[in-house]
Amino acid sequence: MESDKKRIAIIGAGISGLMACKYTLEKGFNPIVFEARSGIGGVWSQTIESTKLQTPKDFYQFSDFSWPREVKETYPDHTQVLEYLHAYALHFNILPRIKFNSKVTCIDYVTSSSADLHSWDLWGGSGEPFSPWGKWRLTVRNGQNPSASAPTDQVYQVDFVILCMGRYSDLPNIPDFPLSKGPEVFNGKVLHSMDYAAMDDDVAADLIKEKRVTVIGFQKSAVDIAAEVANKNGATHPCTLLFKTAHWIVPEYLLPLVFQGLNRFTELMIHKPGEGFFIWLLAMLLSPLLWIFSMSIECYLKYMYPLKKYNMVPTHRFLKQISSCMFTVLPANFYDRIKDGSLFLKKSQSFSFCRNGLIVQGESKPLLSDIVILATGYKSEEKLKNMFSSTLFQKCIAESSAPFYRECIHPQIPQLAILGYADSPAILYSTEMRSKWLAHFLAGNFRLPTISKMEEDVMEWEKCKRRDEKESYRRSCVSTLLQIYCNDQLCKDVGCNSRRKNWFLAELFAAYGPKDYKDLS
Ligand SMILES: Cc1cc2nc3c(=O)[nH]c(=O)nc-3n(C[C@H](O)[C@H](O)[C@H](O)COP(=O)(O)OP(=O)(O)OC[C@H]3O[C@@H](n4cnc5c(N)ncnc54)[C@H](O)[C@@H]3O)c2cc1C
Ligand SMILES: NC(=O)c1ccc[n+]([C@@H]2O[C@H](COP(=O)([O-])OP(=O)(O)OC[C@H]3O[C@@H](n4cnc5c(N)ncnc54)[C@H](OP(=O)(O)O)[C@@H]3O)[C@@H](O)[C@H]2O)c1
Repeated sequence: MESDKKRIAIIGAGISGLMACKYTLEKGFNPIVFEARSGIGGVWSQTIESTKLQTPKDFYQFSDFSWPREVKETYPDHTQVLEYLHAYALHFNILPRIKFNSKVTCIDYVTSSSADLHSWDLWGGSGEPFSPWGKWRLTVRNGQNPSASAPTDQVYQVDFVILCMGRYSDLPNIPDFPLSKGPEVFNGKVLHSMDYAAMDDDVAADLIKEKRVTVIGFQKSAVDIAAEVANKNGATHPCTLLFKTAHWIVPEYLLPLVFQGLNRFTELMIHKPGEGFFIWLLAMLLSPLLWIFSMSIECYLKYMYPLKKYNMVPTHRFLKQISSCMFTVLPANFYDRIKDGSLFLKKSQSFSFCRNGLIVQGESKPLLSDIVILATGYKSEEKLKNMFSSTLFQKCIAESSAPFYRECIHPQIPQLAILGYADSPAILYSTEMRSKWLAHFLAGNFRLPTISKMEEDVMEWEKCKRRDEKESYRRSCVSTLLQIYCNDQLCKDVGCNSRRKNWFLAELFAAYGPKDYKDLS
């Protein structure tokens, strides 16, 4: 294969784009990376002051590039993460491949063949990464500020696209409100957590200073922002955290235990897609152990923290929280701030705006607020969909709830892969595995199965995950409790040994992490 003649475009220079670039470079390609911002790092380059890693760093590191010795913390802060990413980009000579301030506004598949895409049995017509008749055309908006009055557009034609645009930025999820009950009637300021995170620390501190702040949500952005505001404003201007669903939030020291539990023995307790009778039986017999583990963590958290007192006991199992990729680590001093009156918690199914604050369902008086921060997440599917100019591909993204094949390939969208879309408790680790797999595929080391086989596979995964996760099922979540099983499949595809430990007991009971796959590239 003449790798250097095939053009690969990578969209985004967060961790996913950096790894996609590194692994395609290693296979002899000359990828070009388009990054809308002026620097690398994606979410780590623009975040609130108190942000730190919530994955123990051993599970959030590149397999062949360790954290520097000076970083002793288990959970490095966002500046340390960004420095680590810079060091990686420098070490593997990635920076010269990146075009900064270059936002890809749309991608269009152009083909010189009259063949109907629907009639293909094989991905892209051949099951190969590249096709002699199909190319992607990218429209790229250049400029320091992509929304400036006269940005310039350039068109690039490439053989393969790797989308690494990230899930948690750019397109915020703003709740809908009935007419005259939305932010337009509110006299104060409403902003999304994304806008708050984009502010310089001193500007953000000035904004909230001595203001009555209400934060909406109960996942990581919400609890972090609420804790940050409460720490800064104290009990004289308490912050309110208003949420629909209580989630299990775990203290930092408990998390390594959970990660150590993600081993092959635990995976025996989980049902797998298309499993045979013996595997099914084993999972049935062992699954009570998982239930005991989940209950023990729940009891511990209820014992340690005043969850009942503050109406914060989740109605779902801890295990369900993990298996649906919803990890939230408790910010430092969270309960102290509640105790000293700097932070109030309020649970309500809905809210709307009024002139001087929020109308909270079930309460007669408005919740007086000067600032409302919507930490309500992102519309990641829509962001992905909007990238395609073809309505056919837009439908492929939007009209199916099945996961992608190997979490990065859509069976109907040729010559394109998506990295970083798949969520997990350690996204760097799970994305690096897929970056390596993809690089092997691009290098021609294996072919994809037929489209119908890939579709069957993803449907099996959906069925299997829905059974465990029920209403919390999200197509984007890499099965947290089956990470090693998923990695085994990737190893098998690229033709390498999936057993990575050197003796039986370690294979069964030790956790798997990025370092175990160091030589997979
Ligand atoms: C505050 C925060 C903390 C987190 N902490 C953890 C953690 O502890 N553990 C964990 O596993 N995960 C964590 N995550 C999840 C995190 O999103 C991933 O770990 C990871 O950093 C995602 O990297 P990415 O490259 O896929 O996406 P991003 O970091 O979002 O990077 C995407 C890049 O693509 C660029 N881009 C987007 N669209 C375009 C376009 N059209 N044209 C050109 N460029 C474009 C963006 O500018 C950005 O630089 C955290 C997320 C957030 C928001
Ligand atoms: N390492 C870090 O320090 C850090 C910091 C921030 C973010 N992150 C990561 O970044 C990702 C995004 O986190 P996020 O917290 O921004 O988003 P998120 O995980 O999608 O959470 C969104 C929150 O908004 C709530 N919500 C959504 N719509 C709502 C509505 N209409 N009314 C009321 N509440 C609504 C949700 O409530 P329900 O649950 O009830 O739906 C949920 O609590 C996650 O992976 C997270 O772990 C990490």
